[in-house]
Amino acid sequence: SGGGHGKAAKYDFMVVSNRLPVDRCAPGESGDDGSGWRRSPGGLVTALAPMMTKTDGAWVGWHGAPDETVEPFSHGGMDLVPVQLSNDDVELYYEGFSNATLWPLYHDVIAPPEFHRTWWDAYRKVNQRFADAVVRSADKGATVWVQDYQLQLVPRLLREARPDLRIGFFNHIPFPPPEIFAQLPWRKAIIDGLMGADLVGFQRPSDAGNFMRSARRFLGASVKQQQVHVKGHDGEITHIARAQAFPISIDVAQISELAHKPEIIERARQIRQDLGNPKTILLGVDRLDYTKGIRHRLKAFEELLNEGKLAVTDATLIQVASPSRERVEQYRLLREEIEGTVGHINGTYDTIQNTAVRYLHHSYPVEEMVALYLAADVMLVTALRDGMNLVAKEYVTARKDNDGALVLSEFAGAADQLKQALLMNPHDIDGLKDTIMHAVNMSPKDAARRMRSMRKQILEHDVDHWSADFLAALNEKVVRDDS
Ligand code: F6P
Repeated sequence: SGGGHGKAAKYDFMVVSNRLPVDRCAPGESGDDGSGWRRSPGGLVTALAPMMTKTDGAWVGWHGAPDETVEPFSHGGMDLVPVQLSNDDVELYYEGFSNATLWPLYHDVIAPPEFHRTWWDAYRKVNQRFADAVVRSADKGATVWVQDYQLQLVPRLLREARPDLRIGFFNHIPFPPPEIFAQLPWRKAIIDGLMGADLVGFQRPSDAGNFMRSARRFLGASVKQQQVHVKGHDGEITHIARAQAFPISIDVAQISELAHKPEIIERARQIRQDLGNPKTILLGVDRLDYTKGIRHRLKAFEELLNEGKLAVTDATLIQVASPSRERVEQYRLLREEIEGTVGHINGTYDTIQNTAVRYLHHSYPVEEMVALYLAADVMLVTALRDGMNLVAKEYVTARKDNDGALVLSEFAGAADQLKQALLMNPHDIDGLKDTIMHAVNMSPKDAARRMRSMRKQILEHDVDHWSADFLAALNEKVVRDDS
């Protein structure tokens, strides 16, 4: 079944995420293709869109325009089923509970999480609305794949309404250790919500382990290997949820194809020339988020300039910081701080001809990103905590000539796969500075050896593998493990 997008359409495969892959443009903008829609930000969409353009199925999510009702529609070969959010929902469920409670809590409390009962009420209410939208359009026995921390109650709500469904969940961000998760006043309800799924996927084995420890501690579930056994009132096992790591990846074919295009190679040359042909271009690409370690990166770079280890005449840092969650206070504060720091660095070290930091508060289409990857000698991924970090994987994929150096935080999930990167702890500013200098001065031979090995890893594990692995595991018959 599936196909079509009338009100009555039923699907046997559905993806559910907070955002649809496209976002309603601001009034006056026309979008990437003149349709009034533009691509949504973030790694989740990057990872799921390739599969959804090739699959018969529907994607349920918010369309990005508060208070606007949009009928189901097709875009880029995908059937999209919009869920409406009011202005209040955006403020309480999205900006509040999702991004000012869960986001900081799940990222090692880098910023202090806020706990408000009104936010929690909105989170429950909106999760119910997403579940209802699925219940209406899912065929009997359909497979439903719920995504990310904004929708952790949906698996349980679906199981109760529709026991016929096969329910998967994937968490794109870290899952915190129980010692931190314990702070959440609604910790039991969240774990119970997730346990409605048949399979709960995480980025790293440590995330899956953290979840299972929390299931045991806060819900008294018994955990056997990768199975979480949920018991009913009479002590009988009523449902088995499995928890496992499935490291997410990127559309390798798309990035490599772009990296080989003459016009993109030419654009990379142009970028270099426009910057005055510095010996070394360093690059950072992030959503403007406090988890990304942008401040630490700037501090290290500034100290290197100050000590004369780098000079603006031969090194420039390009920092792309795409706008994100701009109404959330911690993001506003971060932006002020970053922009103040960049102004200070450039004011101190720039010359008329050369700039220390080329700071860009924009998001760019993938073609421009690949040109930047090709132009950059050193890629800086200095996240303080990151579920995966797909920028690291994109950079490696774009470096088809096996040159360039990747400086990668051990706190990013990608560090599990990219063992030949220059791994470091971004909190250690001296260590970070040494690692940057190591990257800047790396011999071509060493760079090639590392890059070849990282490229092999990514080329063999692209995003199609990720979704296929997850869905295959979701459809496995579960044999109860009582060992
Ligand atoms: O992968 C984490 C994530 O929060 C996604 O769920 C989200 O779509 C993306 O980052 C971008 O964030 P936002 O949707 O809040 O702009």
